[in-house]
Amino acid sequence: MMQAMSDASPHPSSTGRRERVLSGAQPTADSYHLGNYFGAFRQWVALQDDFEAFYFIPDLHAITVEYDPAQLRERTYIAAAQLLAAGVDPARSALFVQSHVPEHAQLAWVLGGITGFGEASRMTQFKDKSAKGGQDASSVGLFTYPILMAADILVYQADKVPVGEDQRQHVELTRNLAQRFNHRFGETFTVPQAHIVKATAKIYDLQDPTAKMSGSNPSHAGVVDLDDTAKQAAKKIRSAMTDSGTEIRFDRESKPGISNLLSIYAALTDRTIESLETEYADKQYGHLKVDLGELVGDFVQSFGDRTRALLDDRAELDRVLAAGAERAREVAAETLAAVYDRSGFVAPR
Ligand code: TRP
Repeated sequence: MMQAMSDASPHPSSTGRRERVLSGAQPTADSYHLGNYFGAFRQWVALQDDFEAFYFIPDLHAITVEYDPAQLRERTYIAAAQLLAAGVDPARSALFVQSHVPEHAQLAWVLGGITGFGEASRMTQFKDKSAKGGQDASSVGLFTYPILMAADILVYQADKVPVGEDQRQHVELTRNLAQRFNHRFGETFTVPQAHIVKATAKIYDLQDPTAKMSGSNPSHAGVVDLDDTAKQAAKKIRSAMTDSGTEIRFDRESKPGISNLLSIYAALTDRTIESLETEYADKQYGHLKVDLGELVGDFVQSFGDRTRALLDDRAELDRVLAAGAERAREVAAETLAAVYDRSGFVAPR
């Protein structure tokens, strides 16, 4: 076996370490939103208890579309502060900025060598994102984005990758690349699994409750940003599009608007949908909206307070991110060394 010939470290999943979880959320807006919080960050925070966790801000991914450098820098800080405000605990998890760990880009190059052009061309997110301006106007970086994402995951030997449904295909590619490399060059990578969040944690746009809440939605009337004021957030909830009829009941098919509000309510209060249906059985849509508006308002208010306090001390944020990157690099450097060795690169001596 090739592995036996190599002096680089063996496949880590056989070493009995704690399972690893890894995820990232692009800093492509001035704030994350409620959908990110319930659909992703809450899971990340919960997973810290049982996994060795790596959470990062993919700034390298953010430059694959047109962007403004000063804005990216500020958004990266905001992203870090919001992840901390959401409960990512730097004492337990490595929280870091992707560009602080050069091994991501280094591994991406190696993986590019075993990725088929046709395989990369089949990524539906690239097709969607490039459809807007046409493929000729898209960057090569946007095209190779999934390969960098594979490197993000594989460089930490991650076992589990919590992502939304839209990222499933990228994790599938990651699995294929890991298996291909292992097969050709010897056991090197853990083959990761996507951890797709539960449908009930999924939050939809308040104005179009059939589309997921997304920062790239043209209007933010349907998106509660985590930096909204209590007033703004409450108003968005009260103005949410609701369905015909009057009954407050969870039914995604015929009542997407009310169902979305019930999901948010349940997520925010840790209550069940059933108990909310019972409580609101004799009430009107308006009651639900006013109550939920207040709850969401209070939530963004305290979330915003915590975020602002963190952003007021950049030196401390820098320290947290540096410690996260240092921890991340320990793991990433070990994987990259094994990859380079197995790839046949002469070690610099
Ligand atoms: N592509 C992911 C998204 O847009 C972000 C991301 C980059 C990511 N690298 C990752 C997610 C690695 C999980 C693991 O949401």
